[in-house]
Amino acid sequence: MRNCHVVMTRLVGSATRLLAGLILAGALGLSSSTFGQSAGQAQMIHYDAATKVFRLDGADVSYVLGINEQSEVQTLYWGKRLADSDTLPAAISSPAISSFDMALNTTPHEFVGWGGGLYVEPDLKVSFPDGNRDLILKYVSHQIHNDGLAITMKDQLRDVYVTLDYRMDKETGILRRSAVIENRTGDPFTIEQVASGTWNLPRGTDYRLRYLTGRWAGEWNVQEQPVHPGKVVLESRRGTTGAQNNPWFAIDDNRSNDQDQGNVWFGALGWSGSWQISVEQDQVQQVRVTGGPNAFDFAYRLGNGEKLETPAFYGGFSDHGVGDASRLLHRFEVGSILPGHPSPRLRPVLYNSWEATTFDVNEAGQMALAEKAASIGVERFVMDDGWFGGRKNDHAGLGDWYVNPKKFPNGLKPFIDKVHSLGMEFGLWVEPEMVNPDSDLYREHPDWVLNFPGRPRTEARNQLVLNLARPDVRAYVFGFLDKLLTENDIAFLKWDYNRNWSEPGWPAAPNGAQQNVYVDFTRNFYSILAELRQKHPQVEIESCSGGGSRVDLGVMQYTDEVWPSDNTDAFDRILIQNGFTYAYSPAVMMAWVTDSPNWVNQRSASLEYRFLVAMQGSLGIGADLNKWTADDFDKAKQMVAEYKTIRETVQRGQLYRLITPEHDSPYSVTESVSPDGKKAVAFAFLHSSKELYPYPRIQLRGLDRGARYEISAFAGKLAPATPKTASGAFWMQHGIDVLLRGDFQAAAFTLTRVD
Ligand code: GLA
Repeated sequence: MRNCHVVMTRLVGSATRLLAGLILAGALGLSSSTFGQSAGQAQMIHYDAATKVFRLDGADVSYVLGINEQSEVQTLYWGKRLADSDTLPAAISSPAISSFDMALNTTPHEFVGWGGGLYVEPDLKVSFPDGNRDLILKYVSHQIHNDGLAITMKDQLRDVYVTLDYRMDKETGILRRSAVIENRTGDPFTIEQVASGTWNLPRGTDYRLRYLTGRWAGEWNVQEQPVHPGKVVLESRRGTTGAQNNPWFAIDDNRSNDQDQGNVWFGALGWSGSWQISVEQDQVQQVRVTGGPNAFDFAYRLGNGEKLETPAFYGGFSDHGVGDASRLLHRFEVGSILPGHPSPRLRPVLYNSWEATTFDVNEAGQMALAEKAASIGVERFVMDDGWFGGRKNDHAGLGDWYVNPKKFPNGLKPFIDKVHSLGMEFGLWVEPEMVNPDSDLYREHPDWVLNFPGRPRTEARNQLVLNLARPDVRAYVFGFLDKLLTENDIAFLKWDYNRNWSEPGWPAAPNGAQQNVYVDFTRNFYSILAELRQKHPQVEIESCSGGGSRVDLGVMQYTDEVWPSDNTDAFDRILIQNGFTYAYSPAVMMAWVTDSPNWVNQRSASLEYRFLVAMQGSLGIGADLNKWTADDFDKAKQMVAEYKTIRETVQRGQLYRLITPEHDSPYSVTESVSPDGKKAVAFAFLHSSKELYPYPRIQLRGLDRGARYEISAFAGKLAPATPKTASGAFWMQHGIDVLLRGDFQAAAFTLTRVD
């Protein structure tokens, strides 16, 4: 089962094997199929042979597509679930509006090749060895199987096959789409652009697009703008996911700022290489969202008999606003994406040494920190950068993955044993895809990095990118990690990646197909993670890339948590975490309590404030414990113990962003309701009070109106008139006043169902 989850697989060999297994339901004229149906809102796939209409239902969502009279695959409906008795008429291609806009351009395609005069974004563009670049895909067959639908299309003249894969999640209505491109032409051809598919929204002109932007130490900014005629391209050209944009979008038709109102169509791409999502309002006011690997500098040579599977593009719908869209994504990530789904392990409370020691790690120093961390209830101790090779700073050592003998003369074992004896798991930092030119590895293998021969090799943080697409580099990286995990009792790797690509050449690429690097690098990255996890099932992994530059639904299939940002300033972090949760679950959002004043802004904040910010995600501590006072340890012990009681609610609950810190709001309030609805926890933050105004009243959401809940504040104060117990209706309608005044103040309280 090696690489079983690897997307973008290139399968060499008989292409007919897969097709032989397909039930050519269209050709056989089967009428209607229902799969996986159980009581209530189960997943269902229907096919009506008379109209050639497919309907996929999951949770509260229906997705309907059809084969039109041109044998094109056309979107018919995507939105709130239709009644079971509803049927949609056959697809008919949209009329041309003039000789300038033929029907091909006005029809909402699920997946369209570039050819025949297509001007909107294509899903596939190829170039054949004879110079022909025309591709017109037509439906040939389909198969309905246990967890989805596969529709096969073929170029009208050449043996280029595309199989569209659809899997509907019955819990959330999130649809997974991908496409497999198969070459049976007898010769290689080049894929110049490929998408996983196109999402077509109902025609409309009053949409708003939300997306996420950022940079190092400033990730996860929520942007919003009206969807206008023209195209917005969200992308990374960096070789990896990047923070400049994150591969997530949400489009709503709601003009209010209420997080829980309006229709929202949202999606996320599962790909950790260069990617693009284009949001296009076309010439007939249709909104199309197309996503896949970035077309910029892309070329993939597909040999005869080979297949290329695109990344998964996930899409969902909610009629309860972007807040609910986030909750659906969170549930989907925990239930269907993360390792160990549908019940991944709750995140242990972690300590990380980076901000305390930077590169200056050694056995005695780390042991001292470990003792202090254990005393406050930490469950996992992670040693960060600096433990290997000749690593004293960021100028040398990356690539030489042996334990530094000066810093750890007895190897890692005595230290790891010590961590275990303190009742904690042991974790370690690695940055496997990188090399410092000042390293034995680079001196031995200068050809192992991405490069264009004879051109300068641009360094960033004094490092170069190893070309993971090369089989020898893949073998080296897997080999050293496997050895490290075999020889040491390691429960966790923080897998870092601290620069983006430059000079993305692969001089030794097979058949001269250098640009295959855009696919093969990421594919090998995933396959190493998958193979390591299979061989070392006890090991958990965090995806870090100088903070949040490699967070997406692709890498999250192989990693248990992510590091959203190197910016650990608690106030900045409120905004960072707010943006993060639009797309990703608090269950994977590592959040550390670090020192005050914080290195980022030199801002001071109380230890309690810093804890409360971090407790909204997966709690970690990254402070220099050697500088803590006895009072700090007492406070930390209390907060860690409190966190353990709310951890499940925070990591598995339904998150409501009651007041977002966006638009420079001085307030921010989040609430999480446990999956069984019996508990809720809320966090309220104040930047600075002004002119004696009280803190806004907090009206909770997601409670049972008729049930009774007891309130208890574990930080800050509630207004004296607050009842001890009241109904869900009271807490949601009347609301709660907290007494917050001053600068960088915070309060937190729980509600527990008592009836
Ligand atoms: C990156 C990470 C940090 C830390 C350093 C170590 O910047 O994001 O958390 O691990 O590398 O060099």
